[in-house]
Amino acid sequence: MSTIEITVATAAGRAASLALPVGPAEPGEDSEAGGDRENTARLLPVGWPVDGLAEELDAFLRDVGHGGGAGTAHLLPRPGREPGHLLLVGVGRADPLAWVAAGAALVRSAGERVAHWTFALPTDRDGDLARDVALGAWLAGYRFRLASGQERPTLRRITLVVEPGQAEAARAGIAAARALADAVILARDWTNTPSARKSPRWLADQIVRAAARRSGVTVKVLDEEQLAEAGFGGVLAVGSGAVRPPRLVELSWRPRGARTHVVLVGKGICFDSGGISVKPRDAMKLMRKDMGGAAAVCATVLAAADLQLPVRVTAVVPLAENLVSGSSMRPGDVIRHYGGATTEVLDTDAEGRLVLADALAYAARRLRPDYLIDLATLTGASHVALGKRTAALFSDSDELAKALQAAGEAAGEPVWRLPLADDYLGLLRSDVADLANIGRPAQAGAVTAALFLREFTGEARDRWAHVDMSAPSWIDRVDGPLVKGATGWGVRMLIAFLESLDEPRPSR
Ligand code: BES
Ligand code: MN
Ligand code: ZN
Repeated sequence: MSTIEITVATAAGRAASLALPVGPAEPGEDSEAGGDRENTARLLPVGWPVDGLAEELDAFLRDVGHGGGAGTAHLLPRPGREPGHLLLVGVGRADPLAWVAAGAALVRSAGERVAHWTFALPTDRDGDLARDVALGAWLAGYRFRLASGQERPTLRRITLVVEPGQAEAARAGIAAARALADAVILARDWTNTPSARKSPRWLADQIVRAAARRSGVTVKVLDEEQLAEAGFGGVLAVGSGAVRPPRLVELSWRPRGARTHVVLVGKGICFDSGGISVKPRDAMKLMRKDMGGAAAVCATVLAAADLQLPVRVTAVVPLAENLVSGSSMRPGDVIRHYGGATTEVLDTDAEGRLVLADALAYAARRLRPDYLIDLATLTGASHVALGKRTAALFSDSDELAKALQAAGEAAGEPVWRLPLADDYLGLLRSDVADLANIGRPAQAGAVTAALFLREFTGEARDRWAHVDMSAPSWIDRVDGPLVKGATGWGVRMLIAFLESLDEPRPSR
């Protein structure tokens, strides 16, 4: 797939198309009165000789009523002059997410004319601005490979202009952005892939291939026979209706000297028809995305390796198709999970928790995690509660919840904590098994799903967090670094979380 080339320059030189960052006239204040002279955006100080342009820019900013908000951009064509295009990119309060939005705006504002932006940055000592701009540009420039009807971004190149002493840091920042963007894009590609192609075996193969390209990354795949032998009854029951059998993948990055072990579990339902408790037409049509949690946690392990993060990270992903056939599990069936606990299946559409129960029990018993975090497109109820942009977070650990909340906020993937209300556990009572797989009477659907999962976390219970990312895993309009379709949600939050762990970098 073609991608935008991003390089660093230290001298202004000449640019056919020049982009400059602008912020609100009074930084830190939101400009409410748009177009008001007082609130017109102002150029940020950059190492580019703008003296000759200053007056023209001021007039233009006033004319278009540029407020300087993050990601807002105004293009000034200057036919017959140099530069021929000037782009004034708002960076709001100039925080990291604003620079990501600015990078996305570069891609979106190129139109049909501009193939190469030269973007002058303010002082960028540690390369963070270059990293954030590059991340925004690469994520906004993403297109899914099968979608031939989509327009391709015309932008081919971005040159970031920094001060001479900062070129090396900027290049390192861009390299870090590349690793992170690649992971988000991989998660998007997997999630966008139609389910006809995306069998559990196909997805497992994709993960194996990605692992093989990296040193220090190991991968293990359990097939249906090995799953049966080890007692993964939930994964097998959910996958039983499909012709293409389930898998379980364990993907691991283990750097030397790492102290902390983070285990990530991801829901990997390659298609969710609901099973015998079949979904209505409209609810089913996007259910190829029901492996978004698995995609995100696997991509995170790969990014942790590419970024050489000094933390041990293991992803455990159960992969299955939830389909309708003569061999499907039935409502009323009782299944036995990894570790021996049993579940009465009252609704075959509550399948995510059945596969996650096995995976969590396995992770808690066998992998001795310091943190156990699962990501799952688990309930429509989380969407009802929190809307399209915020994932639901559940944890009994205030420390872990705070760390994930901070990571999500910094990464632009916000999570909001909902209660693991002990009282509601009674809703999951069953007469014939340890638990029923839905709460009755139906209420607090995201909460009862989380309570169900908690029962399988064993010794890791107080170090566990569950993130229900049903809603933010997909978007139906372009927004900042997001394009229509799969968002790759969770990779940026998890990498920010891993980076926040206080691990010493091993000396080389
Ligand atoms: N994969 C769905 C949840 C989902 C819904 C994800 C919409 C993304 C968008 C999950 O397997 C499911 O069907 N959940 C049910 C649970 C119910 C049967 C208790 C739901 O949310 O309706
Ligand atoms: Mn379902
Ligand atoms: Zn599902």
